[in-house]
Amino acid sequence: MSERGEDGNETMRDRGRLPAGIDTTKPSIARVYDWFLGGKDNFAVDRQVAEAALKVSPGAQEAGRQNRAFLQRVVHHMAAEAGVRQFIDIGSGLPSQGNVHQVAQEIDPAAKVVYVDNDPMVLVHGRALLAPGDTTTVIQADARDPRSILEDERVKDFIDFDEPVGLLMLSILHHLHDDEDPAGVAATLRAPLTSGSFVAVSHFCNPGDAHPVASQQATTAEKLFNDNLGTGRWRTMDEITGYFGDFEPVEPGLVPLPEWRAEPSISVKNALLYHTYYGGLARKP
Ligand SMILES: C[S@@+](CC[C@H](N)C(=O)[O-])C[C@H]1O[C@@H](n2cnc3c(N)ncnc32)[C@H](O)[C@@H]1O
Repeated sequence: MSERGEDGNETMRDRGRLPAGIDTTKPSIARVYDWFLGGKDNFAVDRQVAEAALKVSPGAQEAGRQNRAFLQRVVHHMAAEAGVRQFIDIGSGLPSQGNVHQVAQEIDPAAKVVYVDNDPMVLVHGRALLAPGDTTTVIQADARDPRSILEDERVKDFIDFDEPVGLLMLSILHHLHDDEDPAGVAATLRAPLTSGSFVAVSHFCNPGDAHPVASQQATTAEKLFNDNLGTGRWRTMDEITGYFGDFEPVEPGLVPLPEWRAEPSISVKNALLYHTYYGGLARKP
């Protein structure tokens, strides 16, 4: 993929190297997010959406970085402090820096990670770059059909549901429409987890009257995302809290991403962004 030219779209197609199922005429969430993170696995159509988003929400790239930093802190917490040794990462995205398996396997090289995404490009790149083996694998599945994930043979091979699992749903549930029942999806995926398991969620948030200016920006960003990507919901704190079910919140609870056990030195440059992107971790007692 690194051989792609300025117009990556044409270059890849002309060389006939584009893997099956990848549509370069429509933006993809995974590829737009990859652009925000400074990755190269995106096409002109993705960059157009990303650049439009930046005009409305100049903190979008910082938001992506904060989300990745949150991912690393929650995985580190689960692996290092709670001894979790198996993880399911729903809507895992294109491989980036500090992926789940890298954080977890730094604590224990035998830690197991299943990456799940419905974007075919994630499967292709995941298989190439993550060097799947006995400890890491990637499957293509749709979160809107959570049972298909739980019943996948590789998930059954990799994950021992009698032992604690770290279930990650980071920046994925806000890509499910209300009528796709994100709460039901989260509940189905939580259901088989045993005591000592964790659920981590990060999610776009509309803070409502608590932060009216940020709320207005959330509404504008929501429209832009839906017009261009066909998805993106900035939900309320109550809605996001519901995704943890009856799991017990780990301190400090559901908070703006930089507040979740970050080093005090982490600076937050964009105050609006701060109140529109939340994350939390909860544990099954
Ligand atoms: C914004 S990225 C988040 C990546 C990663 N979880 C993170 O937080 O850094 C959202 C990912 O969810 C995936 N996704 C969106 N809808 C999905 C669905 N219905 N099933 C599985 N994956 C989905 C996208 O392809 C994309 O890779």
